[in-house]
Amino acid sequence: MMLIGLEEESRHPMAIDANGAAVGVLTLQSGAAMLAGWADDESVWLLRGFLIDRRQQGKGLGVLAADAAVRAAAKLTAALGGNQTGVVLSVNEENPAGQAAYRKAGFEDRGQYLGGDAGPQRTMYRPF
Ligand SMILES: CC(C)(COP(=O)(O)OP(=O)(O)OC[C@H]1O[C@@H](n2cnc3c(N)ncnc32)[C@H](O)[C@@H]1OP(=O)(O)O)[C@@H](O)C(=O)NCCC(=O)NCCS
Repeated sequence: MMLIGLEEESRHPMAIDANGAAVGVLTLQSGAAMLAGWADDESVWLLRGFLIDRRQQGKGLGVLAADAAVRAAAKLTAALGGNQTGVVLSVNEENPAGQAAYRKAGFEDRGQYLGGDAGPQRTMYRPF
């Protein structure tokens, strides 16, 4: 076991806070966008490990958190001086809740991604 956010500087793990309670987690990672089917690693942030507490799902928090993640990524780019232009993620084709949450948060479908071992994914992207 290890706390991976502390092991890799490229990862920025975040707790999702709603009214003072932690309701989920997400990680923004630089230099890893090809893991979501993007053409290169460096030009966008990878959003990964996105999870809302099961008891809090279906209340709109996923949409709000995905939107907040893009704003947080833009701030990181400004603070760290990177070249990223947006955020990319991959979501399983059999995860309608995930796809709906990302779509409502402004992510656009950039096609199918067959990498990884979790079955067919959709690559989704939102610019800053
Ligand atoms: C995906 C996830 C983050 C979405 O968070 P959430 O807080 O439940 O989502 P929201 O309440 O913001 O709902 C987003 C949309 O998904 C829809 N939705 C929820 N469950 C759904 C389901 N089973 N089937 C289809 N749509 C669904 C909602 O209706 C809503 O769309 P609407 O407003 O048009 O009705 C959450 O379900 C989760 O943590 N799932 C487990 C982990 C996971 O799949 N993470 C994403 C990996 S890429």
